[in-house]
Amino acid sequence: MAELDTLYGTKNPIFQAGMGGIAGPELTAAISNVGGLGHLGAIRLSAKDLKNWIAQTKALTDKPFAVNLVPPGGGPDGFDAQLDVTISEKPKAVSLYWGDFGSVIPKLKEAGISVMVQVGSLAEAQKALSDGADTIIAQGIEAGGHVKSKIGLMSILPDVLKIAGTTPVLAAGGLSNPSKIKAVLGMGAAGVWVGTSFIVATESNAHEIYRERLIEATVDDTHHGHFYSYGWPIGTPYRVIKPGKNYSLRNFKAAGARRSDSEAFARTVQLYAGQGVGDVKEKKSAAEILNDLSADLY
Ligand SMILES: Cc1cc2nc3c(=O)[nH]c(=O)nc-3n(C[C@H](O)[C@H](O)[C@H](O)COP(=O)(O)O)c2cc1C
Repeated sequence: MAELDTLYGTKNPIFQAGMGGIAGPELTAAISNVGGLGHLGAIRLSAKDLKNWIAQTKALTDKPFAVNLVPPGGGPDGFDAQLDVTISEKPKAVSLYWGDFGSVIPKLKEAGISVMVQVGSLAEAQKALSDGADTIIAQGIEAGGHVKSKIGLMSILPDVLKIAGTTPVLAAGGLSNPSKIKAVLGMGAAGVWVGTSFIVATESNAHEIYRERLIEATVDDTHHGHFYSYGWPIGTPYRVIKPGKNYSLRNFKAAGARRSDSEAFARTVQLYAGQGVGDVKEKKSAAEILNDLSADLY
C-alpha cells in the first residue's frame, strides 16, 4: 500500500478535514506543524483570497499542507478559478468533495499534487479510484457538515477497503476519540479525516458561541437534515446540532458560524457537527487536540 507519509509528508495519520469558513491558515498550519495534514477549507473564497490564504499558510508552516476544494462552493470566481490558483501554488495535496473529478484529478497529478477524494458510497469510491485518486476518504453518515453518505461508517469502510486495493483509505465521520480511531485503523483504514473535533481549536475561525454549543452538546444532539444550508442548493443533506431556544427564522438554516459572524447569527442557526460531538469537551490548541486523538496510536 502507498503510505500516507510518502504521499503527504506527514507523521500522524490524523488529517484535519477541510471545513469551509472554519479551517483557515492558522488551523491548517497548526495541524501541519505537528505532523498531521492541515486542509484549508476553500469554500466560497475568491481566487484571490484563496491565493492569499495559501500564502499565509506558507508563512506559518514549512510543513506540507493541503487545499480542500468543493465545486458547489467555488466562490465568486467559480471552481475552475480556484483550481487554477491551487495548481499554480502547488500545495502538497488537494482534497476534493461533492463532484465529478474525472478531468480534475489528472490536472492535479500532472502538477505533482497528491489527490484525495471524499466519497459517500461504494459507487463513488469506485469512480474516484478509476479517476486516479491517490487516497479515498470513506465518509459515514455520522459526519458533521454536508454529508454525502447514507451509510454508517462501520458498513461503508470495509467495502471501500475491499475495492481500494493498494490505494490508502481514510475513515471519516464521528471519529472524536482515540478508541474510535484505533478501531477504524484496526479495520484497515490508513488514517482518519476529522472535522468536528477541530472546530473548537483555538486556531479555528469558529465563533466562540459555536465552540460553546459544541462543548455543551451530547451524542443525542445531532440531527441529519436536508432543508436549507447557507450557500448550498435546498435539499443538500447535512448534520447539525439544533440552536438553543432563540426563536428566529434562522433556526431553519444550517451553517458554520465564523468569528466574523454576529452573535445573533451564531446563536440562532443550526450548527454543523458530527455524531462524535459528545467527546468535544473543551477549547484547546489544535496540537493538543491532535495529541489527545493520537493517544492510542503509539
Ligand atoms: C463545520 C464543518 C464544515 C465542513 N466543511 C467541509 C468542506 O468545506 N469541505 C469538505 O470536503 N468537507 C467539509 N465537511 C465535512 C468533512 O469533510 C468530514 O466529512 C466530516 O467533518 C467528518 O465528520 P466529523 O465532523 O464527525 O469528524 C465539513 C464538516 C464540518 C463539521
